[in-house]
Order: sequence, then structure tokens, then C-alpha cells
Amino acid sequence: MIEVEWWEYDSAADMADAVAGDIGFIVESAIDARGEALLALPGGSTPKPVFERLASSSLPWRKVTIIPGDERLVPLSDERSNVRALGQAFLPLGARVIPITGDIDDYKLAGNSADARLKDLKWPPDLVWLGMGEDGHTASIFSGPDLDAALAAPRDRRAIGVMPDPLPAAAPVPRVTLTKSAILSARTLIITISGAAKRALLEQALADGSSSALPIGRVLCDAEQPIDIHWHP
Ligand code: 6PG
Repeated sequence: MIEVEWWEYDSAADMADAVAGDIGFIVESAIDARGEALLALPGGSTPKPVFERLASSSLPWRKVTIIPGDERLVPLSDERSNVRALGQAFLPLGARVIPITGDIDDYKLAGNSADARLKDLKWPPDLVWLGMGEDGHTASIFSGPDLDAALAAPRDRRAIGVMPDPLPAAAPVPRVTLTKSAILSARTLIITISGAAKRALLEQALADGSSSALPIGRVLCDAEQPIDIHWHP
């Protein structure tokens, strides 16, 4: 049985305060223990207020390396690029923000390249922070032809290229994502979601576990670390 704790807030602002506080604590603990911190952060809209709060905190950012937990295959200058948002938030603070994609159009090769790049980092991440889409995807582990490869990738495979099917409306492009095994290697795992519909979906996915029809259920079912889920209506 996986261990899950739900944290509920009245508003997005309250949730952002709490999540930023937790991440600050994770960063400080990692630096105390190992002299540095590695964070894998999500894309999408939910993280933005947390990024703003983190940016105004006085953490030792020069000792922090940040990667996107997933990336859309778009140029780094594209609004939809996850690392672009991370760079805007954290480069001015002195953090090391590392893109996981470059100019490779073939999504499978882009996944190989991301995997190689991540193998240069000190693993595991101190934090993998995940969001969830209304279709039950997490990071960029989506339904589609590459779902099983992302779920069943061997322990040392950190990233993989995937073609979501159907393509998500918000960014209808192939992706590169941390694999299930890379996500579950994290020292700490947190999830942020909002709204009653996503809450019901995630509760169902957790209850169904390995037989879940949703990617997030099949990713989380083998978690060995406790998972904090932060939610607001
Ligand atoms: C991505 C994300 C993705 C995201 C969810 C939730 O790049 O698409 O990493 O997994 O976390 O789609 O997005 P929202 O926060 O916008 O609801």
C-alpha cells in the first residue's frame, strides 16, 4: 500500500504559501546533508504562484539545480517551454536551471538525449514535484503509444520521449518526460492539484493502483516514499 497524505487549503494562495514552505525545507535539508539540491519541477499553471514565493525567499539558490520533470518539444523561446518558465523564475536567483531538450525534432531521440543529460547529474532528485492533467497524465506520462515504455523503463533510465495520444489541447506537441522509475527514485514526492474533478480523479487512480486506466495511478502505485498531495477547491 502506498502512503498518501492529503493537505487541503481554502485558496490557491494558501496552497502556494504552504508548498513553497515545504520546498524551502527540502532545499535546506538537502544542502545541510549533501551540500546541494536537485529539484525536478512541473510545467502547467499551478506552479507559477509557488515559483513567485520561492523567488522571494532567501534560499542558497547557487547550490540548487533545477530541471523540468517534463518538457514539450518546442523551441526554448516558446511560451509553452517548461524550462523557459523555470529559467525566468530561478536563473535571476543564481540557481542552475538545466534544459532537458535541445534542437532534436525526433521525439524518441530527444528522449535519449535528455536521458544522457540527466545521467550527468547527481541522482536522485531531492524533490520530484508533479501536477496532474484532467486526463490523468502526470509529468508527460500520457496515454498513447509510449505509455508502457515510460512506465516500464528500467531503473537507470531517467527520461524518455513520448507522443501523447490524444495530443493535449494546451500544448499539442510530443514530449520528453522523466520515466516512472526516475519519478519514484525521488527522495521526496509532492503533487499539487486543484478542483473537485481532479481530486475525484486522483482518488480513483490511487484506489485502482496498478490496474488504473490513468497514467498517474500506474506511476504512483509502486511509490515507496510517502506522497504529499496538496489540493485546493
Ligand atoms: C506539463 C506538465 C503537466 C502538468 C499538468 C497540470 O508540462 O504539461 O508538467 O504534467 O503538471 O498538466 O497542469 P496545470 O497545473 O496547468 O493544471
